[in-house]
Amino acid sequence: MDRPLRVAALASGRGSNLAALIAAHLPIELVLVGSDKAKAGALQVARDAGIPTVSFSPKDYADRAAFDRALFGAVADARPDLLVLAGYMRIIDATVVADWEGKAINIHPSLLPKYQGLHTHRRCLEAGDTEHGASVHYVTAELDGGPVVAQARIAVGPADTEETLAQRLLVEEHKLLPAVVGAIATGRLQWNGQPVFDGTPLASPLDISAQGDPSFSRPV
Ligand code: GRF
Repeated sequence: MDRPLRVAALASGRGSNLAALIAAHLPIELVLVGSDKAKAGALQVARDAGIPTVSFSPKDYADRAAFDRALFGAVADARPDLLVLAGYMRIIDATVVADWEGKAINIHPSLLPKYQGLHTHRRCLEAGDTEHGASVHYVTAELDGGPVVAQARIAVGPADTEETLAQRLLVEEHKLLPAVVGAIATGRLQWNGQPVFDGTPLASPLDISAQGDPSFSRPV
């Protein structure tokens, strides 16, 4: 592509993943940040960076599909090449999701397919896992269920709590999400009915090391 990738983001919360994306100085143009919460910190992060914002309140709409048509319609009007769900906490109507196949990614704080949905850190501890992580996947109608493209891992120790896991994992999320968006922006990661990395269909998720090196290494 001979121009920066146009990226829109949706977020419901404080927006630290959005801030990491901005700080990474990727070859992207952030064209819109949207939220289902008018007071989301992510909207302030966007405004501080000079990025246009929109917010829509679900209670103003008759049902999920009507809300999603409004919000995702506004996103489509910004003509993004890629939509990033960066802590967007609502289930999306299946008919709306269908319009975004191969064009939307989500970051989720678990080693998918483990722990789709909420309370991932708690569920990881309850299961006695020795390893936890975060995943970036393409968005499909199944919640947290689309093809996983990349993961970051952390070790779980005996003293860990939900809070310590969330804190340590967030540091890795802030490398993982920019790494994936960067890979899409440079054309290394593409969608051709399935994720394709460096010209080869992705058989298993890419791993980013916890060494602070945001470049991908293929899993062994
Ligand atoms: C992250 O842990 C993300 O994986 C999850 O929600 C959190 C969002 O944090 N889905 P932030 O709003 O990016 O700070």
